[in-house]
Amino acid sequence: MPTDPTSPYLPFGDNTHAPWYGKDILSVNQFNRDDLGYVFGVAHEMRGMVERVGTFDLLKGKILANLFYEPSTRTSSSFTAAMERLGGSVIPINEVKYSSVSKGESLPDTIRTLECYVDVIVLRHPEVGSAAIAAQAARKPVINAGDGIGEHPTQALLDTFTIFEELGEGVVDGLTVTMLGDLKYGRTVHSLARLLSLYKVKLNYVSPDILRMPKEVMDEVAEKGIPQDEYTSLEEVLPETDVLYVTRVQKERFEDPAVYEGARGAFLINPEIMQAARKEMIVMHPLPRVGEISTDFDGDPRAAYFRQMEYGLYVRMALLAMVLGKA
Ligand code: ASP
Ligand code: CP
Repeated sequence: MPTDPTSPYLPFGDNTHAPWYGKDILSVNQFNRDDLGYVFGVAHEMRGMVERVGTFDLLKGKILANLFYEPSTRTSSSFTAAMERLGGSVIPINEVKYSSVSKGESLPDTIRTLECYVDVIVLRHPEVGSAAIAAQAARKPVINAGDGIGEHPTQALLDTFTIFEELGEGVVDGLTVTMLGDLKYGRTVHSLARLLSLYKVKLNYVSPDILRMPKEVMDEVAEKGIPQDEYTSLEEVLPETDVLYVTRVQKERFEDPAVYEGARGAFLINPEIMQAARKEMIVMHPLPRVGEISTDFDGDPRAAYFRQMEYGLYVRMALLAMVLGKA
């Protein structure tokens, strides 16, 4: 679509030579600090546009396939809302049991099918590396919406955007970020630790011993020179924490339900515990929560987890515009 100089949507014009045009988004390792500045700049513009006009036609005529082999509320509906707010449309395949997957169709064949009909594919799948396999099969961009316990890159992008918007871009260098809960199976923290290692942060990992951050993630982060410390209790690190990132114990990843039962419920964030934290810090959670944060804390200004979901819409609008050559 030619850029209309009178369009109220500038600076979003055709930009098919831009570096993200046609690209897959599979891992946070694809992003450097400049890229993040760019994504967040576009996300910020998207927020302004949504607030001013709600829906606009930047991606009119474009179609997204939302292919989810695992449950989702936020990722799936925010990608749908993002596409529709940009004037595009969506083919949702949330119940793969009603698709030809249930007849035994492979992931690459399913991807090859969908790309005949759509311009971009968002994929959530239980296996690590599935998004990369899909991207190899596809000529159209594939966006990883969670590959098993591997990564959830668009979540880490929206998490970092949340930190920028809530605490200020300038302060990210120097922040202490404490990740709490299931650091072994939680893909959001695998992506977030890697992405934050682009900044001069200090990372604390607080988890039950059996749910520690995987060594490969810690090794990658250590290569960037980022200090990391592991704990089994929160008390010691809460007072120094600027961002407390709480996660759910990932029940669906445990082979033995008894081990899950033993690991859940180790931490509870509530107003009493939070008295020991700073006044100007934030509590984040990718959600869903299943008892890690008491609803009594929801009214505290430091509770950023509902705002975090809204930031996800703007970041996903930005990513779709970028890979489709409109930002
Ligand atoms: N929604 C996030 C994910 O899909 C976190 C979670 O499910 O606990 O990874
Ligand atoms: N944060 C997140 O990925 O939520 P959903 O699992 O609901 O998509």
